[in-house]
Amino acid sequence: MAERIQAIRGMHDLLPDQTPRWQHVEAVLRRILAAYGYREIRLPLVEKTELFRRSIGEVTDIVEKEMYTFEDRNGDSLSLRPEGTAGCLRACLEHGLLHNQVQRLWYAGAMFRHERPQKGRYRQFHQLGVEAYGMAGPDIDVELILLCRRLWRELGIAEKLQLEINSLGVPEERAAYRAQLVDYFRAHYQQLDEDSRRRLETNPLRILDSKNPEMATLIAGAPTLADALGEDSRAHFRGLRERLDEAGVAYQVNPRLVRGLDYYSRTVFEWVSRDLGAQGTVCAGGRYDGLVEQLGGKDSAAVGFALGMERLIELLALPEDLARAGLPHGYLINLGQQAERQALLLAEQLRDALPELRLQVNCGGGSFKSQFKRADRSGALVALILGDDEARAGTVSVKLLRAEGEQRTLPQAELIPFLKTLL
Ligand code: HAM
Repeated sequence: MAERIQAIRGMHDLLPDQTPRWQHVEAVLRRILAAYGYREIRLPLVEKTELFRRSIGEVTDIVEKEMYTFEDRNGDSLSLRPEGTAGCLRACLEHGLLHNQVQRLWYAGAMFRHERPQKGRYRQFHQLGVEAYGMAGPDIDVELILLCRRLWRELGIAEKLQLEINSLGVPEERAAYRAQLVDYFRAHYQQLDEDSRRRLETNPLRILDSKNPEMATLIAGAPTLADALGEDSRAHFRGLRERLDEAGVAYQVNPRLVRGLDYYSRTVFEWVSRDLGAQGTVCAGGRYDGLVEQLGGKDSAAVGFALGMERLIELLALPEDLARAGLPHGYLINLGQQAERQALLLAEQLRDALPELRLQVNCGGGSFKSQFKRADRSGALVALILGDDEARAGTVSVKLLRAEGEQRTLPQAELIPFLKTLL
């Protein structure tokens, strides 16, 4: 036999047993997004590398180490999208969607990052992203958080997720803070690990993100960004917290929350679960007002988040009826030439009459025994049996597969009311 080719590490197939969960979550997401007035935008999987460099940031892990970048046949540098915010904004600017108007948009689909795969961290993963443009106040930040809360409630996982928020201020405030931070870490240079020493020169804020336990005390003693914020940023953050309190949203202010992408300003937030191990962040986002101008638009407000579908789905308990979603109601066994031809036609009539019916017809022949086995394996509730005798007499035999009961023979005309009881 020829050697089999395997999937790429960190890129997973979603098998038919798993897709009902995804479809369930996607249906809930769509309904709730519509309820808040968000509209779908569909974007390319591939963009010019320059777009991600300029938006996510030159010295971020994503751009430095994780992008799938290649030269196409024209010699242009392209990358598989590692996230959706940059592409969404690029599309909005390109099509004039931000011209004197606000937008509430969402997108869903595969993203690609060449990270070290582990549970909850993949090289191809799926995000739902939500972006709101043209609204500068904390009210829209809160709307996004309320939307998330509603999603968690509808999916029955509200208890499993905690909200963390922080304010990163505006670039000038961050620059001042950065200088303070560099001074602090320089003064403790001997205690820095190798990664942090490198970051001290390139992106000192990321040192705060270090997962190295030996760095924890040093990081705990570092100056905080909160002290470096100006009055406007403080007021924005205060407005956010007040509105969250009014809406009864529980949250923790986490002064160490800095995010791994450079485009954020002011509000950042993450929904984190303790049930997922090391990769506990299910949903993350924030405000990125400066990015619109950075990508060639007019200075304009922007805020959004993305949730990781794999992590979200991992948290779900499967509702009972979902286990059966997608499985057929009936399996039509047919024996003999006349029966085989009639089976296809009969199945069409049944589907005409019952659009909700899921019916599999046995194709490719087989003995009664082997067809019956297939009927059972298909997960169908009932086997419909059409032999040449039944075909001639205009009848069908029915046998329940998941409940007790004798096999019985019905006139074909009575099949529709019978099958209706299974839907
Ligand atoms: P992010 O924090 O890079 O933000 O990703 C958002 C979420 O995507 C994470 O919280 C996680 O659930 C999921 N995720 C990220 N990487 C992986 C991976 N390798 N495997 C599985 N899941 C993953 C963004 O992407 C921003 N674009 C969010 C945003 C939208 N900010 C403003 N608007």
